[in-house]
Amino acid sequence: MKSTIALTAVAALAAKASASCFAERMGYPCCSGNEVVYTDDDGKWGVENGNWCGIADEPVYESCWSESQGYPCCSSPNAEVWYTDESGKWGVENGDWCGIPKGTPTPIDDEPYEISGNPFKGVEFYINPYYVDEVDGAIAQMTDSSLIAKAEKMKTFSNAIWLDTIKNMQSWLETNLQGAQSQHQSSGKDILTVFVVYDLPGRDCHALASNGELLANDGDLARYKSEYIDVIEGHLKKYNTQPVVLIVEPDSLANLVTNLESTPACADSEKYYLEGHAYLIKKFGVLPHVAMYLDIGHAFWLGWDDNREKAGKVYAKVISSGSPGKVRGFTDNVSNYTPWEDPTLSRGPETEWNPCPDEKRYLEAMHKDFKAAGIQSVYFVCDTSRNGKKVDRKHPGEWCNQTGVGVGARPKASPVSGMDYLDAFYWIKPLGESDGTSDENAVRYDGYCGHETAMKPAPEAGQWFQKHFEQGIKNANPPL
Ligand code: BGC
Repeated sequence: MKSTIALTAVAALAAKASASCFAERMGYPCCSGNEVVYTDDDGKWGVENGNWCGIADEPVYESCWSESQGYPCCSSPNAEVWYTDESGKWGVENGDWCGIPKGTPTPIDDEPYEISGNPFKGVEFYINPYYVDEVDGAIAQMTDSSLIAKAEKMKTFSNAIWLDTIKNMQSWLETNLQGAQSQHQSSGKDILTVFVVYDLPGRDCHALASNGELLANDGDLARYKSEYIDVIEGHLKKYNTQPVVLIVEPDSLANLVTNLESTPACADSEKYYLEGHAYLIKKFGVLPHVAMYLDIGHAFWLGWDDNREKAGKVYAKVISSGSPGKVRGFTDNVSNYTPWEDPTLSRGPETEWNPCPDEKRYLEAMHKDFKAAGIQSVYFVCDTSRNGKKVDRKHPGEWCNQTGVGVGARPKASPVSGMDYLDAFYWIKPLGESDGTSDENAVRYDGYCGHETAMKPAPEAGQWFQKHFEQGIKNANPPL
């Protein structure tokens, strides 16, 4: 302060003391008030009880003490304490110990977050540590250095987190919502986490690969509500300072548009899909920090004129059944391979007269039709995790682990100029997680996963599929 020499001497004496504000490191206490009497290079000083004290207006961290012991520093002084020893407090990040920096914790932002407009805009996307671990496991099996470099890049992009069973989702929610909150506390940025709600009774009624734990009956609907949706709601309410996007039950409503007559399992599931949606929209659609997207399949499912028209009615009815809950919009191409743009195709025999043979044209048409059907909020998120390259599917209805897959456009808010109703490109289904097993003897074996263009042998849906991942990063477009 006034006498630098005196200060330096005190600082040297106090060097061993653990710091909680800049002044403490120099042998002075921190002020309890914030009246500034003097400012110098070290910071702002006040006087209390006849002594100089430091005013900590910025969090000040001691240098990372754990590095000298071979461990990194945790990203925030607010990190959860897992263990304490004589050197300090320890946390866990990315599956490893880290030293929690000593110092003034960043003030916790207790303000609830309110989404207005596009939830993907102006935020940082949360990186799912589980996917990072999966990719690390994949890298451990690689020898080609250029492939490894591409895989490393995959760890820097965001994926959705699938809440696919009652048992798993509790820890998925807690770990990742907490992770997003502590990232926010250390970076000061708003961190968006994207979850997929995926456990409807009678799930995946038209296929077998992703059949779920709950069956199409009243008892399982009650479980869906109380053991799944209510539990998610509880976690979302607890962590309300960061934005969350929920992607709701991929494929379910599209099955109600086209497969009620052809597939008895879909007819049996209809009631539960409808009641499940009404219930969850009422619950999640009133949370200000949450934005919801219902799923509309993809271009080669609902793209035809009659399907789009029918879809307008089904989705309008579902949304109003969830009132006063609000829905932001719709997701397309989830886990699918249809390119964003495919100028080589136009309506004709080749597309079976589908006027929407790529996702861009599909969304343009859906936007118009859904508005005409009276749906107020019509915004889209397109899954680009598998559609970087046009794969030779023989038939565009092929959806299982397609040979030649390439990861597509990187997750990004408002990615296409002039298309203000496209909220984002995002990786909803993680590249490298299987679309379905090719084991003919498995209970969830679906014939599509045995077709000519499906990669084989393939593990169960959701399990790591190294070949899928390696092809996907090799064929990335844009390249990694
Ligand atoms: C599977 C889920 C999995 C998800 C993400 C779905 O196809 O059915 O269990 O969580 O993909 O990989």
